[in-house]
Amino acid sequence: MKILVIHGPNLNLLGTREPDVYGSQTISDVNAALQNLAVELGIELSCMQSNHEGAIVDAIQAAKADCAGILINPAAYTHTSIAIRDAISAVALPVVEVHISNVHAREEFRCKSHIAPVAVGQISGFGVNSYLLGLRAIFSHIKLRL
Ligand code: DQA
Repeated sequence: MKILVIHGPNLNLLGTREPDVYGSQTISDVNAALQNLAVELGIELSCMQSNHEGAIVDAIQAAKADCAGILINPAAYTHTSIAIRDAISAVALPVVEVHISNVHAREEFRCKSHIAPVAVGQISGFGVNSYLLGLRAIFSHIKLRL
């Protein structure tokens, strides 16, 4: 089983970006922790980050060929991107949406997710542990459906 992990815009700056909100771990730290968990679960991961909406759409479309599901932190595109939402609907792969911060406890514009209605579910507010919880969630969701 292979899972695609997508980090959206500005998440390449994790570790230095607003550490009071997003913590001090870097994206490499997050990917390493995800890879460790993937070994434990016996699955394969492919991790990518992009600041560009179209590149994320391309990655979602390409995942259809060889991935069983997608773990995504769409970052700011959560609140704006109908293109990413449509790509998820188009490929019909199970998707879990994650956020480091609790988007529902912040500015009002962060409460709206265009992705949540086409995701299996959303995990928000557990720091970078949201990604690990999200990987467990997509893994068990796919296992139950197999
Ligand atoms: C975020 C929350 C978004 O609102 C924000 O635009 C981000 C990061 C999070 O992980 O908490 O870039 O997705």
